[in-house]
Amino acid sequence: MAELITNIGGLRMKNPVMTASGTYGYGEEFADFIDISKIGGIIVKGTTIAHREGNPYPRMAETPSGMLNAVGLQNKGVDYFIDNIYPRIKDIDTNMIVNVSGSTIDDYVATAEKINALDKIPAIELNISCPNVKQGGMAFGTDCKSAQSVVEAVRKVYGKTLIVKLSPNVTNIAEIALAVEAGGADSVSLINTLMGMAINAEKRKPVLSTVTGGLSGACVKPIALRMVWQVAKAVKVPVIGLGGISSATDAIEFLLAGATAVEIGTANFIDPTITIKVAEGINEYLDRHGFKSVSEIVGALEC
Ligand SMILES: Cc1cc2nc3c(=O)[nH]c(=O)nc-3n(C[C@H](O)[C@H](O)[C@H](O)COP(=O)(O)O)c2cc1C
Repeated sequence: MAELITNIGGLRMKNPVMTASGTYGYGEEFADFIDISKIGGIIVKGTTIAHREGNPYPRMAETPSGMLNAVGLQNKGVDYFIDNIYPRIKDIDTNMIVNVSGSTIDDYVATAEKINALDKIPAIELNISCPNVKQGGMAFGTDCKSAQSVVEAVRKVYGKTLIVKLSPNVTNIAEIALAVEAGGADSVSLINTLMGMAINAEKRKPVLSTVTGGLSGACVKPIALRMVWQVAKAVKVPVIGLGGISSATDAIEFLLAGATAVEIGTANFIDPTITIKVAEGINEYLDRHGFKSVSEIVGALEC
C-alpha cells in the first residue's frame, strides 16, 4: 500500500481526497453511505456572517455532463453554525474545513475570526469566487488587488491553514493565484463554477430565476485541469484541484497536473460513495506504477 498522507499548508490529511463545498452538506448527511472519517477532508457548506435565504427557485438545471446552480450561499450564518452545527460535527475524525464567504472584506474577516476560535476546525477555505451573489463573492476573485486585499485582511485574524478558492471566470487565473499567495494564503483551491445559462425555448424564458448560474460537473474538467496546471507552475503554495472529478483517473490527472490534493463536488450527487472509491483508486494506481507515496506523482506530468 502506497502512502497517501498529504500536507496542505500545515494541514495533515489521511489522503488527498476532499469534498467540495456546497455539495456535501456538513458531511454527516453522508454517514449512512460511507465511513466519512476515511475522507481526507470535508469542506462544509458556504458560511457567511449573517443568515442568507439564497436565490429564489428554480436554482438548479441539468446540462449535458453537468449542472447549473444558483443556490446563492443559502445558510443560517456563522453564529448558527457555531452553536448548532459545530457541536455535531467537531468529533468527526477527519479535517472539517469551513468555506467562508462574504459581501464585504469586513464580513470575511468577522466570519474567519469566529471560526478561528473553534479548536476542531483546522482550516478555512475562503470563497472569493461565488458567481451567484449580487454583492462580493466572485467580484473579489476576479481582480488581483481585491483578491490580495481580502486575503491580507483575513490573514491578520486567521492563524490556521488558509485556503483561498479561485474563480475560473477570469482571463489569467495564475495572476490571481499569485496575488492571493502574496496576501498570505497557505494554499489555493480551484476551480469554483463557471458562469453559464440555460434557456427554455418553449417558454422563451431562462431556466434559472437568476438567469445565469454556475456550471459544474464532468463538462468543466478540461478547463479545471488546464487552470490547475497553469496555477501550479506559477505559485509555491500547494494547489487543490477540483472541477468535474468523478473517478480516480480524473483525480490522478489533477495530481499529475500539479495539484497536491483534490476536491469532489457534483459527482457526490450521482454516487455518495465516490470519495472513498477515488482514494482507493489512487492507491491502486500508485501500487500498479510502483510509486511509494502520492507525493511522487504531484506535478509529474511529462510534457
Ligand atoms: C449546488 C452547489 C453548491 C455550491 N456551493 C458552494 C459554496 O457554498 N461555496 C463554494 O466555494 N463553492 C460552492 N460550489 C462549487 C463547488 O464547491 C465546486 O467548486 C464546483 O462545483 C466545481 O466542482 P465539481 O465540478 O466537482 O462540482 C457549489 C457547487 C454546487 C453544484
